[in-house]
Amino acid sequence: MPQVAKGLEGVVVSETALSHPDGENGRLIYLGYEIADLANNATYEEVVHLLWTGHLPTRGEFTEFSAKMASYRVLPKSVTDVIRTMPTDSEPMDVLRTAVSAFGAVQKITGKATIEHAMALTAVFPTIMATFDRQRRGLAPLAPRADLNHAANYLYMLSGEVPSDQRTRALDTYLILTADHGLNASTFTARVIASTLSDMCSSIVGAIGALKGPLHGGAPALVLNMLREIGTPENAEAWLTAALDRGERLMGFGHRVYKAEDPRAKVLRSLAERTSEIDFFRLAIRVEDLALKMLHERKPDRRLYTNVEFYSSAVLHGVGLPDDLFTPTFAISRVAGWTAHVIEQLKDNRLIRPDAEYVGPTRMTFVPLEKR
Ligand code: ACO
Repeated sequence: MPQVAKGLEGVVVSETALSHPDGENGRLIYLGYEIADLANNATYEEVVHLLWTGHLPTRGEFTEFSAKMASYRVLPKSVTDVIRTMPTDSEPMDVLRTAVSAFGAVQKITGKATIEHAMALTAVFPTIMATFDRQRRGLAPLAPRADLNHAANYLYMLSGEVPSDQRTRALDTYLILTADHGLNASTFTARVIASTLSDMCSSIVGAIGALKGPLHGGAPALVLNMLREIGTPENAEAWLTAALDRGERLMGFGHRVYKAEDPRAKVLRSLAERTSEIDFFRLAIRVEDLALKMLHERKPDRRLYTNVEFYSSAVLHGVGLPDDLFTPTFAISRVAGWTAHVIEQLKDNRLIRPDAEYVGPTRMTFVPLEKR
């Protein structure tokens, strides 16, 4: 009897040189660099260059690369028109998925995936989201500004104001922390699609769909809902106890890979302290302390720790993003990793096609329609 690896836990389906979450030791590296080093010292553009080319850019490469990526930020009018047809109450992730698909068709992102494709897609994600966000607020879209970096331009296109260095840096750090993460569900989706020799855009559209779910990228807004419902540090214990008694999961805790603290949560916690309001941060700290204590008491063998989503919510809220742009902003970051994985998959491709153990009936007799 074949062993069923439910959820593919522990199954190794490919090699990657891009990133490695070391779950036992709570470590994450991108091409050998510690995530905290990159988060504290690099910019998103440098990290994207690292993921796509395998090395950190020199000053000259950085200038050229950033300028080229910035020049790709403008959306074709036909894609802006597609966004315009979306109802204003659409879920932003649905709009992103639809607009990226339209972008691929319009820009002819076809044939073998290239860094040019990766750059074209990564550059327009913020433009798509800012265009939709302004449209639903009754505002005209703003043209991207090539003199601002990826993070600052996104915030500018949303609000019309050039953000402070502190806000830009906070978002830039978040984008670096979430740019890649081994073979997570959305990256796996992208690689499965790439393995059929489909195009880069199809991989990315599939990955957006996978990221949307609350067990993956859909959690940060749910964390914020939880914190708002709890309201005050004094309410935290009763609220968390009741939620766990009802068998609910606490959003922002637990991870398939990390059996120690997620190293991204550590960086985000200190960033949240600097970006969020003091009362909100105090509440988050109290909820985290209690949740960890309770989860360890109730599920001692599960080793449940704070994951990346818990403090992402505080940071993204702190930089001024509306709740429903949290997951799209995760996608704005992760598209760098998805595209890097697509390119890597194609370097040594084999169709990804696992098996399922058949458990259905085996000897049914066909009855014609008119006799059923
Ligand atoms: N709250 C309460 N219990 C939890 C939590 C949680 N957040 N996470 C896991 N558990 C429990 C489960 O109930 C289960 O207990 P049981 O075996 O006694 O029934 C056990 O821990 C293992 O859970 P699984 O779902 O098998 O673990 P898995 O590795 O598949 O799940 C996941 C990881 C989906 C992230 C899970 O921890 C979870 O649902 N967390 C809450 C949602 C969340 O924060 N999602 C964002 C993840 S980060 C990211 O994707 C970027």
